[in-house]
Amino acid sequence: MGKAELTRRTMLAGMGGSVAATFAATGIAAAAEDSVHDSRAQDLLRRMTTEEKLGQLQQLTWNGDTGPGGGQNAEVERRARDGRLGSVLNIYGAANTNALQRIAVEESRLGIPLIFGFDIIHGFWTTFPIPLAQAASFDPAVAVSDAAVSAKEGRSNGVHWTFAPMMDVTREPRWGRIAEGSGEDPYLAARFAAEKTRGYQGSDLAAADRVAACAKHFVAYGGAEGGRDYNTVDVSESRLRNLYLPPFQAAVAAGAATVMASFNTVSGVPGHGNAHTLTEILKRQWRFGGFVVGDYTGVREMIKHGFAEDDADAARLALNAGVDMEMVSTTLSDHGRELLAAGRINPRRLDDAVARVLRLKFRLGLFDRPYVDEKAEIPGPADPARAASRAAGARSMVLLKNDRAVLPLRRPFGSIAVVGPFADSPDLHGTWAGPGKKFPAVTVLQGVRAAAGQAVVRHARGVDPEGKDGSGIGEAVAAARASDVTVVVVGEPSNFSGEAKSRSDIGLPGVQPELIRAIARTGKPFAVVLVNGRPLSIGGWLDAAPAVLEAWHPGIEGGNAIADVLFGAVNPGGKLPVSFPRAAGQLPIHYNHENTGRPYDPNDPYSSYYLDLPNGPQFPFGHGLSYTTFDVGAPALGRDRVSVRELRGGGTVEVRVPVTNTGDRDGDEVVQLYLHDRVASIVQPVRKLRGFQRVTLRAGERAEVRFALTGEDFGFWTNRPEGEFVIEPGAVDLYVGNNSEGGHKVTVTLT
Ligand code: GLC
Repeated sequence: MGKAELTRRTMLAGMGGSVAATFAATGIAAAAEDSVHDSRAQDLLRRMTTEEKLGQLQQLTWNGDTGPGGGQNAEVERRARDGRLGSVLNIYGAANTNALQRIAVEESRLGIPLIFGFDIIHGFWTTFPIPLAQAASFDPAVAVSDAAVSAKEGRSNGVHWTFAPMMDVTREPRWGRIAEGSGEDPYLAARFAAEKTRGYQGSDLAAADRVAACAKHFVAYGGAEGGRDYNTVDVSESRLRNLYLPPFQAAVAAGAATVMASFNTVSGVPGHGNAHTLTEILKRQWRFGGFVVGDYTGVREMIKHGFAEDDADAARLALNAGVDMEMVSTTLSDHGRELLAAGRINPRRLDDAVARVLRLKFRLGLFDRPYVDEKAEIPGPADPARAASRAAGARSMVLLKNDRAVLPLRRPFGSIAVVGPFADSPDLHGTWAGPGKKFPAVTVLQGVRAAAGQAVVRHARGVDPEGKDGSGIGEAVAAARASDVTVVVVGEPSNFSGEAKSRSDIGLPGVQPELIRAIARTGKPFAVVLVNGRPLSIGGWLDAAPAVLEAWHPGIEGGNAIADVLFGAVNPGGKLPVSFPRAAGQLPIHYNHENTGRPYDPNDPYSSYYLDLPNGPQFPFGHGLSYTTFDVGAPALGRDRVSVRELRGGGTVEVRVPVTNTGDRDGDEVVQLYLHDRVASIVQPVRKLRGFQRVTLRAGERAEVRFALTGEDFGFWTNRPEGEFVIEPGAVDLYVGNNSEGGHKVTVTLT
């Protein structure tokens, strides 16, 4: 292909912008809208009894059997009829939700409609790639695409409110819920949190294709010690505000309608009873006007935490700390009346919580249109939705390694072997797949067969996802020997990810590594495709594999998306949103670490390292290859000196970065901008991401990406409990490149 005409295109990269400014604008807009709904809510509130008020703060699960002997649905209907229920989760279907809604609206005294919540995490009928995969696209539009399809499908099935986006920053691949978030970086997670919130909510929550969002889990859930779910989190105020809170602040600034409290303690105080986080930060400092829902029985679990005496005490602590609605446990609706009478909860706090819930119901249009149109119900994944999921899946994949250009598979294909436990497995939805998991995902074998045309495609499972039986490896080896190239599809079952799914060993389960090594011993070309919900330790077989494609759990169209990348219909452009460790023993390992007083030095035995591991991750945050090559050039600064005062006043520093596609095919590169404040009153990470832009360039094309850094980027939160954001004078190094290591460095001096 001849060199394309060099063109200069300048793209202004998103962000670097001030969340505060966005926040203020959105806050004002939301406040205006809320004043309309607020007056309706206050009017209704004045007519409610104490029982009805407490009822609005109660959410129960449908089809659950949490009560003694089950039979939960009868209890749900009874409370709805009595006007003692505010919300129900885990019910869907237009007819089902309408039937329950009619009881609340037409049989209770005040006819207050219920709000129906559901975990639509990455798809309702049409499962999209898991959120961690979406983050790997470094393109928030991927998350918006998921949210728009999900909201449309969910709302048409009677769901008003999704418990998403999950935005827990984490450095813990052992934690099964790493699959649900956007990885280890707060800036990337904040971008995805804000955009996905907007994608679910749109500009009118009453619209038939929108749902209320829920920023979860507030807060620092991803910091669980040992990566063991629900475990203790002890965190400094500065780490809380610099690492865990930014995605939530961005989601609130984007207008998130609700926030969900987290199960974990935050420095000794459970998330459900933490007035510092729920009231001081979220409601007072951020002026959050929506409502806080507890997590599933999270209020009552404060007893087990050793924070509440009993149910009544748990209810008191939760409401007073800032929880507005209780999920499934019933401590507040059971004991609220006695707590009020004893003056242990404040009636104004109760009214405030009820008003927050009612305001959202008005915003959703539930009083005006409480029922969903059963004729408009979307019954399953439609082709356009599948196409969107397929595109999202391919765009989220990360090419980790590609020696000798094994990929893309080249025509004429001759013969291809597709082997491994996930080669012909429909288990590609990932965790929290919702109702969509009843539709089998397109398998890799199906995708390869559809793309390979006349080629001979052989299949052999080889081994199971788990277990020690390697007796099938010979059949897979035979298929590889008989074929020109082999695709080895390995990874984790979907149920290895998600809630209460922590792993102590993050290697490929079972004898999958043995399968890879056996295929390598044939000497024939092959590529490994990983389908997994977390970073894995893959060093044991990595050297034996010439090419490795990280496909994550790619969703309902997974096999087609993987084939699109394997055959080059899509040139992979994703990057790692989380570091890949060499071993679990190396955790936590992440790019945005402190330097320490004794940073690793190969010439200094008294520096920070492991005796039995090379230093650094297997693959760093931001890593990802392409089928072409790129050059990210030296950045140019609009200025290399700027005063703190000017930055506080809204001043910016422009950074212009040239990027060239130096290869022979079109492709995507993610230009990344990192910042390091060399000397600060709180030690700063050696790098922190403060800008990224995914660009598509034709072969030979050159472009320029521009970033505008603001005070928000240069500053940081201190350990002051009331919250203190500072920008300090001194030298700040900027790094630009296509991952979190290396790159070009320039320095800005803050005066
Ligand atoms: C679960 C999860 C939360 C989910 C909720 C409702 O325990 O922690 O993320 O939204 O319960 O299913």
